[in-house]
Amino acid sequence: MYSRRKFLTTTALATAGLGLAACRDAAQAGGVGLAPVAPALEAVSGTLNTRLIPSTGERVPVIGMGTSGSFEVGQSAAELDPLREVLKRFFAAGATLIDTAPTYSVAEDVMGALLAEQALTGKAWLATKLSGVTGREAGMAQFEDTLRRLKTDKVALLQVHNLGDLKTQMAVARELKAQGKVKYVGVTHYVERAQEQLADIVQAEKPDFLQINYSVVSRGAEKRVLPLAQDLGVAVLINRAFEDGKLFAQVKDKPLPPALSEAGASSWAQAFLKFALSHSAVTAVIPATGKPDRQSDNLKAGSGPDLTPAQRDALIAAVV
Ligand SMILES: NC(=O)c1ccc[n+]([C@@H]2O[C@H](COP(=O)([O-])OP(=O)(O)OC[C@H]3O[C@@H](n4cnc5c(N)ncnc54)[C@H](OP(=O)(O)O)[C@@H]3O)[C@@H](O)[C@H]2O)c1
Repeated sequence: MYSRRKFLTTTALATAGLGLAACRDAAQAGGVGLAPVAPALEAVSGTLNTRLIPSTGERVPVIGMGTSGSFEVGQSAAELDPLREVLKRFFAAGATLIDTAPTYSVAEDVMGALLAEQALTGKAWLATKLSGVTGREAGMAQFEDTLRRLKTDKVALLQVHNLGDLKTQMAVARELKAQGKVKYVGVTHYVERAQEQLADIVQAEKPDFLQINYSVVSRGAEKRVLPLAQDLGVAVLINRAFEDGKLFAQVKDKPLPPALSEAGASSWAQAFLKFALSHSAVTAVIPATGKPDRQSDNLKAGSGPDLTPAQRDALIAAVV
């Protein structure tokens, strides 16, 4: 549900020729933020903050989505219908960034089919991976298969998954970028013990993007990876902001701290996503869900000002 106050705020910004991005920048600088997010779980449209990709200046909405688990489903209507609604709400809110991988079983096939049937393929900012392959030919063949599965002729971001066969697959990604089939190249990992190696690679390779885990209980990326990315102008995607869902069990029966409600979060999920987004090196977060109401919940974390240091500390104290 779109609140009257939010409608007026957004309309006023549009009328004044100010983008939502400018609004976020003003909010970060202590200026005016967006009106509080309405508590209902339906999709809200056009309210997401955006952030810059340093290597080009393109902006992307701060809430993206993952597909691991959530889009690894069968062909029945019972499995696909909720995902149709997950995508509908995602795009209705102004989100675009979708992360997948050829090794997430059928996720690329399911995503490709659902985007195509809703004529959304052209609106999606697709990120996928070179994953579990060795050698140039295998990397090229996997990417061609990915394009077929996603029903597209290009993707926004191609990432070397978990640093596998790094030198060769990075060269494959760069070759595809030169051909115009990929706009950005990146590297990913999902555990803290890999972050030193990831940082060394980012330093050496200077990719457009890196993707790493970061959450209220896994803050290791703050030590080196995130400051390095910021220094080098590398965009950052955050995976596992919910620790693959485990964070919800950790806060079960606990009330959301008042400091987070004051920050505009109306659920733990929004608080966890806002936590990741409130690190200044972070470009976007990619939570995964197959449930429409949870998608709406997650999308609501993408508007309003960032958490202050005190609000971040209050969240850490409440969870850890
Ligand atoms: N190495 C890599 O490159 C790498 C590694 C890991 C992840 N990733 C990417 O990052 C994405 C996100 O990571 P992830 O899927 O591992 O974990 P995650 O986003 O931290 O957590 C996903 C879990 O949280 C639950 N969830 C989602 N929204 C919720 C909400 N609002 N309220 C309560 N529960 C909620 C989901 O359950 P339901 O589905 O039942 O809602 C799911 O079990 C992946 O899908 C993938 O695209 C990349």
